[in-house]
Amino acid sequence: MGLLEGKVAIVTGGGRGIGSRYCLGLAAEGAKVMVADINEAGARQVAGEIGGASTRVDVSDEQSVQAMVEATRTTFNRVDILINNAAIFTELIQPRKPFDQIPVEEWDRVMAVNVRGTWLCARAVAPIFKQQRSGVIINISSGTIFSGTEGFAHYVTSKAAVWGMARVLARELGEYGVRVNAITPGLTSSEMVQEVYPSEMLAARAQARVFRREQVPDDLVGTVVFLCSDASAFTTGQTFNVDGGAHFH
Ligand SMILES: NC(=O)c1ccc[n+]([C@@H]2O[C@H](COP(=O)([O-])OP(=O)(O)OC[C@H]3O[C@@H](n4cnc5c(N)ncnc54)[C@H](O)[C@@H]3O)[C@@H](O)[C@H]2O)c1
Repeated sequence: MGLLEGKVAIVTGGGRGIGSRYCLGLAAEGAKVMVADINEAGARQVAGEIGGASTRVDVSDEQSVQAMVEATRTTFNRVDILINNAAIFTELIQPRKPFDQIPVEEWDRVMAVNVRGTWLCARAVAPIFKQQRSGVIINISSGTIFSGTEGFAHYVTSKAAVWGMARVLARELGEYGVRVNAITPGLTSSEMVQEVYPSEMLAARAQARVFRREQVPDDLVGTVVFLCSDASAFTTGQTFNVDGGAHFH
């Protein structure tokens, strides 16, 4: 028996990168997974690998998010877990730029996807979770909120927002038995990170950790599985920093 047997999970941004590893990890523990991504082909491919389902979603769009949740219910009859992983991280915001040179449209798009998207997804599953009096939400934040990493103020601000949002949701949904936590990954060598960040930078980050190696997507999967499972049944409103000891939190 896997830790998540009988559970149904939605992973936003599951069509690529770290999100796709969450899908694999949850499926390996017995969960049925809806791979939801704006990149439909990527989502379909990941779903095919794990025997899950896929749907195209733009998390910044209210109707699209509602349709994602409905598609999950229609396919699997229930929803137990929401991983709020979709974000603008690699595209659009490269190259990095000082905060006073970020175009307003770029700021607004990052907020729309990373912050409004996370809120819309939580809002869409909330009635189901309240009614069944159980559910798990994980907001994927970022270690950049601790370091105040320069050059992408909108991204760092958005990740601080979803971290704070997890705390509010934990309080507001606690009485329904719903748990909400946040994870702050360190710089992780997902496909796009390897594409857009110089290898010297990844190597330098590795040296700043207690464990002196690059962080890879699979380093995050165990924490996600733990937070989705009953092994963490009394844990809510918390932040789990997974970065090989770059920051102590
Ligand atoms: N890789 C890192 O170093 C790192 C560090 C800390 C936090 N994170 C966070 O982890 C998550 C995954 O990171 P990654 O490296 O795999 O990033 P990525 O850019 O490779 O993947 C993001 C995924 O989100 C999807 N997406 C983007 N906009 C969307 C939208 N509007 N609607 C639905 N899906 C959308 C993309 O298609 C993609 O599949 C992100 O939330 C990121 O901010 C990453």
